[in-house]
Amino acid sequence: SQATRILVVSNRLPINFSLGDPTKGEPEFVLKPSSGGLVTGLRGCSLPFTWIGWLGFGTGSLPKDAQDRLRAVVQRDYSFIPVFFPDEIASDYYNVYSNQLLWPVFHYQKQNIFAANPKAWAAYQAANKAFAAVVGEQYRPGDLVWVHDYQLCLLPGYLREEHPTMTIGFFLHIPFPSSEVFRTVPQRREILDSLLDANLVGFHAFEFARHFCSSCQRLIMDAETTQNGILSRGRLTTVMTDPIGIDATKFLKLLEQDETKDHISQLLAEFDKKKIIVGVDRVDYTKGLVLKLLAIEQLLKSHPEMREKFVFLQVGVPSRQDVEEYQDLVREVNGLVGRINAEFGALHWMPIRYINRSVDQPYLAALYAVADACLVSSTRDGMNLVALEYVACQEGRYGALVLSEFAGAASSLPGSFIHNPWNIGETAEVLYNALIASEEERRLKHRRNFEIVTRTGTADRWANLFIEELGKAYAASSAIL
Ligand code: UDP
Ligand code: G6P
Repeated sequence: SQATRILVVSNRLPINFSLGDPTKGEPEFVLKPSSGGLVTGLRGCSLPFTWIGWLGFGTGSLPKDAQDRLRAVVQRDYSFIPVFFPDEIASDYYNVYSNQLLWPVFHYQKQNIFAANPKAWAAYQAANKAFAAVVGEQYRPGDLVWVHDYQLCLLPGYLREEHPTMTIGFFLHIPFPSSEVFRTVPQRREILDSLLDANLVGFHAFEFARHFCSSCQRLIMDAETTQNGILSRGRLTTVMTDPIGIDATKFLKLLEQDETKDHISQLLAEFDKKKIIVGVDRVDYTKGLVLKLLAIEQLLKSHPEMREKFVFLQVGVPSRQDVEEYQDLVREVNGLVGRINAEFGALHWMPIRYINRSVDQPYLAALYAVADACLVSSTRDGMNLVALEYVACQEGRYGALVLSEFAGAASSLPGSFIHNPWNIGETAEVLYNALIASEEERRLKHRRNFEIVTRTGTADRWANLFIEELGKAYAASSAIL
């Protein structure tokens, strides 16, 4: 008999596809690393698993033989299993239903009312079915199937229909909102029913799990909350809190690399004797970038003595650029950076340095390492791995993590300078206090966070705990039948 495998399924694979240009000597397919916390978290696990996911737009329009070649390359070079569906489906499934409806609602933002249109919902179903078909091809009895995130809410249901005895886990990487907000989702019932087809459902924070349970309780007639989870249709679904972590060792090793060290020297030479504040976010409205920039402006206003004494370096990773709300945000952030720099900068000094590009890992580690403070202003965030990564890179400097109380990370990192990003004056003041804090205070705070990021809160601990609980949850749900 074959050994039990773990099949991990997520919308995003850690690589993204684009077509190569043969006239420039490029290969037929160009595969580049993709961004985001889900990919970082899963990549940070040493647990062996088979990763099933989508390679991005463009793959759905390839002719069948090109898709077969791409699948073979991805399996050979990365051991990932790609899922294909038409780009037109992807557009409604990913851009519209996932990112104009579920994403904003789950982050307490206004949903785009057009996103729940029947075509988008049908595409969401079709894409989830395409994932189910590929999982079905890979699955052997005894395998554990671990489904990830809001793009795949219907997958547990589709898998259960075909495989009554499959072990299915589901982990949500974003917040689960209050039931008062969740109930606005038109297809709320279908989503909850499917999630309850998993044996185990996991969340980053206790309150997300609680919101999920109360949503089930209120929206599903026969749902009963028990100590361990939800009982419905004669089956028990275990609900757990399991905050994700990072592979801190990877960052500690990055800091030892020559390439990283070169970046560090260059950055320090350039910003000689100035305080460095860093921000790293996908350009997403949940990251509070506008509030963050307004807080920087407020710091310049209320502490004029700080002018020319610091620089704010913000990396804005491009994200979901076909979605209107994201295009608007790109423009808004560009405009705000320009206005603040023009108003408070001097020809020899600009308070804000901003790029709308992703950066590679050595440069990212260098940025984290040289920064005296890292500013995270999410208005809602499942966890925020940037906060953890910053802590991992601060052994030398004991920099201050200035963290939004609305990031999941706020519950796990007690050594942070916590702020409410909606209160711009407060954020500016907390940031100011962080910048002038004594080394002793910063060191004590950093120690508490570092201990957690490198020991108790790693990606490995997160994954191992989930898999262990999944086995127990499966046994518990079968015991009831
Ligand atoms: N990141 C990236 N490319 C970059 C800069 C950062 O992929 O150019 C990574 C970053 O290191 C982190 C992730 O993107 O691991 C962002 O995760 P987080 O949980 O902070 O937010 P998310 O983007 O998942 O909402
Ligand atoms: C968040 C989501 C992930 C997603 C990531 C990047 O972390 O929870 O599921 O992969 O953002 O977004 P993208 O749409 O590019 O996958």
